[in-house]
Amino acid sequence: MRIAIIPGDGIGKEVTAEAVKVLHSVGQKFGRAFDVEHLPWSADHYLQTNETLPANGYDLLREFDAVFIGALGDPRVPDNRHARDILLGTRFELDLYVNYRPVKLLDERLCPLKGRAPKDVNFVVFRENTEGVYVNVGGRFKPNTPDEVAIQEEINTYKGVHRIVRHAFEYAKASGLTKVCMADKSNAMTQGHALWQRVFKELTPQYPGITATHYYIDALAMYMVLDPGQFEVIVTNNLFGDIVTDLAATFQGGLGMAASGNIHPGKTSMFEPVHGSAPRFAGKNIANPIGAIGSMALLLETLGAKQEAAAIDAAVLKAVSENQITSDVGGTLGTREAGDFIANAVRG
Ligand code: NAD
Ligand code: IPM
Ligand code: MN
Repeated sequence: MRIAIIPGDGIGKEVTAEAVKVLHSVGQKFGRAFDVEHLPWSADHYLQTNETLPANGYDLLREFDAVFIGALGDPRVPDNRHARDILLGTRFELDLYVNYRPVKLLDERLCPLKGRAPKDVNFVVFRENTEGVYVNVGGRFKPNTPDEVAIQEEINTYKGVHRIVRHAFEYAKASGLTKVCMADKSNAMTQGHALWQRVFKELTPQYPGITATHYYIDALAMYMVLDPGQFEVIVTNNLFGDIVTDLAATFQGGLGMAASGNIHPGKTSMFEPVHGSAPRFAGKNIANPIGAIGSMALLLETLGAKQEAAAIDAAVLKAVSENQITSDVGGTLGTREAGDFIANAVRG
C-alpha cells in the first residue's frame, strides 16, 4: 500500500506523526510494510516557495492508494489560500464526494451530554463534499466601500445530491441499519434544497427496509443534543455537515477525538481528523492524536485492511478505558506519549 502523508500545519504535524507511528506498528503486527511518502505542502512551504502544491499535485496524489492529511490553516496565511488548494482542492479534484464522519462515544465519561452512554451516541454523518457553498462561485461588487455587495453562491446539482443521498442509503443497507435522516433548509432555501427534497423522495422507495426521516437543519441540531440515540445515518450538504460534525464531535469528547474520510468509492481517497491546526496548541505536545489515529484506521478499513483497522480501534478503546490519553479528554499524557501507548497496545 502506498500512502501519501501531508502533515500540513500546526498540530496537524504532531498528530500525523502519531498516526504514522501507529500505522507502522500495525504493519509490524500483521507483517506488512506500508510505503509512506511525506509531502511538504503546508503554510511553511507556501510562504517559502509561493507554491501551494505543484502543478501536477493532484495527479501525483492519484497515484497513491490513499492520502492522509493532518490539518491545514495558519494565521500567517489569512486568506487560507494554501488550505483551499491543498485540502478543498484535493476534495474537489479527486471528486471525493463522500465526507464520512462517524460519531461514536467510547466511554460515558467523555460525553458532555447528561446521562449518555456509548449506546446512545453511535451514528454516522455523510456530508456532501464537492459542492454547496464550498465551490467558491460568487464575487464582490464595490468592495471595501459602504456599498459593498458580496455574493457567495450555493451549488446543488442533481448528480451531486443523488450520489451522496444514495451512498447514505447504501451504507445503511450494507451495515444492517434501518434509519436514514436527511437534513436541509428547504423551508427557507426553496430553490436549492427543493432538489434535496426531490432526490430524497425519489430514492426512499428503493430502500423499503429503511425508515427515511427528514429534519430541517436547525431542528436536527436540537435533536442531536436532546436525543442522539435516535440517529443511525444522517445525510446533509457540505456546509451543514461541517457544522453538525463539530457539534457531534463534542459528544465523543471533543474535536480531538473525531475522525473522517473523504471518499470516492473505488478511487484514491483522503483521510484526516475533523479538527484543524489549532495554532494555539501547536508545538506544545498537548494535542489529542486520537482523531488522526482513528482517521488512519478509516483509511485502512476503506482499503480493505479490516484486521489492521480493528486492531487500531481496539488499541484506542484500551487507551480511553485506561485513561492513557491527553488532557482535553481528562488524561495526563502528551501527544507523543498518547501515541506511544496506542502504538504499543496495537502490537499487543
Ligand atoms: P481547530 O479545530 O483547529 O481548533 C478549535 C479548538 O478545538 C482548539 O482550540 C482546541 O480547543 C480544540 N481542538 C482541536 N483539535 C484538537 C486536538 N487534536 N486535541 C485537543 N483539542 C483540539 O479549529 P479553528 O481554531 O477554528 O481553526 C484553526 C485553523 O485550522 C484555521 O486556519 C482553520 O481554517 C483550520 N482548519 C483546518 C481543518 C482541516 O485541515 N481539515 C479543519 C478545521 C479547521
Ligand atoms: C473541515 C474544515 C474545513 C471545511 C475548512 C478548513 C475549510 O472545517 O474539514 O471540517 O470547512 O470543510
Ligand atoms: Mn470543519
